[in-house]
Parts: sequence; structure tokens; C-alpha cells
Amino acid sequence: MALIGAVILLSFLVSVLLLRGSVQRSRRGHLPLPPGPKGWPVLGNLLQVGPNFHQTLYNLSKIHGPILHLRLGSVDFIIVNSKAAAETMLRIDLKFSSRPRTSATYHVSYKQQDMVFTPYGPRWRMLRKLCAVHLFSNKAMEHLRPIREDEVTRLVQKLSRNSSSLVDLSKEIHACATNAISRVLVGRRVFEAGDKAQEFKGMIEELMILASSINIGDFIDVLRWFDLHGLVAKMKKFHQRFDNFLERLIEEHRAGLTETGSANGDMLSILIDLANSQGNGDVVALTDADIKPLLQNMFIAGTETSSNTVEFAIVELIRQPELLARAQQEMDAVVGRGRLVTEGDLHNLPFLQAVVKETFRCHPVAPLSLPAWSPRTSRSMAI
Ligand code: HEM
Repeated sequence: MALIGAVILLSFLVSVLLLRGSVQRSRRGHLPLPPGPKGWPVLGNLLQVGPNFHQTLYNLSKIHGPILHLRLGSVDFIIVNSKAAAETMLRIDLKFSSRPRTSATYHVSYKQQDMVFTPYGPRWRMLRKLCAVHLFSNKAMEHLRPIREDEVTRLVQKLSRNSSSLVDLSKEIHACATNAISRVLVGRRVFEAGDKAQEFKGMIEELMILASSINIGDFIDVLRWFDLHGLVAKMKKFHQRFDNFLERLIEEHRAGLTETGSANGDMLSILIDLANSQGNGDVVALTDADIKPLLQNMFIAGTETSSNTVEFAIVELIRQPELLARAQQEMDAVVGRGRLVTEGDLHNLPFLQAVVKETFRCHPVAPLSLPAWSPRTSRSMAI
């Protein structure tokens, strides 16, 4: 019985896929698409998506040109592999500022109510404006500078205290980046380099694996309901854990604010103030349902990216001692041995700047931009 059921289900799936494929082919036939490699029926170019997808795309663009088309299952992707073309497309069509819906963006990112994945519109503008003003503006960067410098000083002092023993540098750098960001976001260091820090690092790593895994249901509609790899179940579980973590932070922060009766100037205090206000003009009153996704965005986007980049820079300098010696000579000449290097020294350290730029070039932690999507064309565009 079970076998007959399975055969009926399978033949139903195959016919739906073939029907859908032919409908889509006839629709697609009317649309001018850029060139691209030929794909398989139903799967399209899915089999070409390997672990180093960015390198595959680079190689394909050498054959097909800087703007190419891939079909992953039933989803069309336009790959824009040139800075000029990407800028033009984003400038001429703001509607491409939305992001496609995938199981990860939906189940992990609060049903796309966060800043990164929310569709283009008033909410998109309001959340970005909040971050642009309070986190990324020159004024905010300067205001937050003592926090970054203090966390780096703590790291360097800790390393120098333990200079004769083995240190897990990766763990320490990650704790440093996370604490710097948590102080900016919620006004306090959330992690010491102990079990809690490891647990948080583990959560971010788990998310990276979940978000970069191919969920076949995202590309072949009819399979969406089956969660064949069990990824959706894992995403929901992950989301619950991260949501609990943020909930705890907000509760603790609210309790602290009540005690002191004043805001601390960190991002969460600003967001809570806005949540207590009625909202005005472009900025609408926020609720916890807005605050949590925003904090999640920053914790996820800002911690692993920063610490991995620093780690890569150090690995490269260790692998190339002549470059390390040059960087040290430059710092000895400009800063001397009597104090630590500060952000104010950076413009006098061109070699160090070159090391940073070269690290971004050789080890981009996010080699592909986040995909853009236009509801008007229903096509995805990766840049
Ligand atoms: C070495 C450090 C970092 C690297 C290499 C990096 C890289 C990137 C890249 C490549 C993107 C995708 C851009 C796009 O597709 O349009 C991105 C987006 C983003 N990053 Fe970073 N990032 C870093 C640090 C940070 C930090 C420290 C924060 C915040 C505290 C942050 C917050 C964000 C946010 C919110 C987005 C989404 C922007 C949007 O949707 O418009 N990043 N980052």
C-alpha cells in the first residue's frame, strides 16, 4: 500500500513539475534574458551550484559576459558580475532593493520583517534610516570609537598577559568583535571568552551553514512542503533559540533602564525610546517585534564577518613573515613601542591599510552580494 502511495505521489510530482516547466518555458520565451549556460529540464543549472559558487559564477561570466542568466529549478537568476552594471541596475530600479523569499529569509529572519530582508517600502526606508543615523554615520562611528578601542585594548592586554602560553586566537578575536558590537547595540559586554561566547559563536556558525545550504524546496515549488533535508525544521529551532537570546537581552536592558531611569545612548536604548514614543514623520513607533529582528541583523552581520577578516589578516601575516616585519617596522616608526595603535593612527599607516585591503580582496567573507529581487519581474538578481 505504502509503495503504491509513493508511486502515485511520485507520478503526481513529476507531472506537476513537467507542467510547471512547460508553462514557465513558454512564459520565459517572451522575455529577453541575458546569455547563460544551458540547464537540465526541471533542475536548470542547480547542479552547477557547488561549494565555491562565486568562483563558478566568475568562470561562467568569462564565457557568457558580465551579465548572465542562470535558472535554478524554477527560479531565474540574473547574475551581474560588473560593478558598473550593478550600480546602474540598482540606481535605475529601486524596486530591485527587495530580497527574494527563501526558507532561510522567512524562517530565520522573522518572516522577512527585519531590515535586511523586508520588502522595499516605508518600513525598509525607516529601518535603514535608523541604522544609517545611529550606527553607520560618521558621527555615530566617531561617538562609538572609544568602545571599539577599549575592546581591542582588552584583547591585546589579554594576549600579552598570556604570551607564554597557547591561545585560541580565533575564539578571542570573535569574543572581541562580539563584545564591541554588543556594547554598541545593547550597552554592555555580553560575552566573556568562556562557554557563553562559544555558545554564541556556535549559533552564528550554525546559521551560516543553514543559510548557505541549498534547500531544494526553495527552487522547486512542489517540493517546498516536504522539507526533504530537514533544513526548515532546523531553521525554526535555530530561530527560537536566537529569539530567546534577544528576548533575554531586551528584558535585562529594560530592567536596567528602569533602575537608572535614563537611556544609555546604545542602539537598544534608542529603539526602546522609539517604542515608547508615538512615532513621527518617517520614523514610526517600534515594538519588540521590530527591535528583535534589527538586533539580530546586526549581531549576525557584524560579528563573524569582522572576526573572520581579522583572523585571515593575521594568518596571512604569519604565513608571510616579510610582510609582518614590514607592518611592524611601519608601526614602530609611526606609533612607537610606548603605546597601542589607535584608530587615529590609521591614516599614517598605509602599509597596514594595504594589508587590510588585500585581506578583503583575497578572503572576502561574503564573496556574493545578498540577492536582490523585484516583485515587478519576479526575477532574482545576484550581484
Ligand atoms: C569585515 C567586516 C564586514 C564585511 C566584510 C561585511 C560585508 C558585507 C557584505 C558583502 C554585505 C552585502 C552587501 C549587499 O549585498 O548589498 C553586507 C551587508 C550588511 N552588513 Fe556587513 N560586513 C562587515 C561588517 C559588518 C558590521 C560590523 C555590521 C554591523 C554592525 C554589518 C552590517 C551589515 C548589514 C546590516 C548588512 C545588510 C545591508 C542591507 O541589507 O542593505 N556588517 N556586509
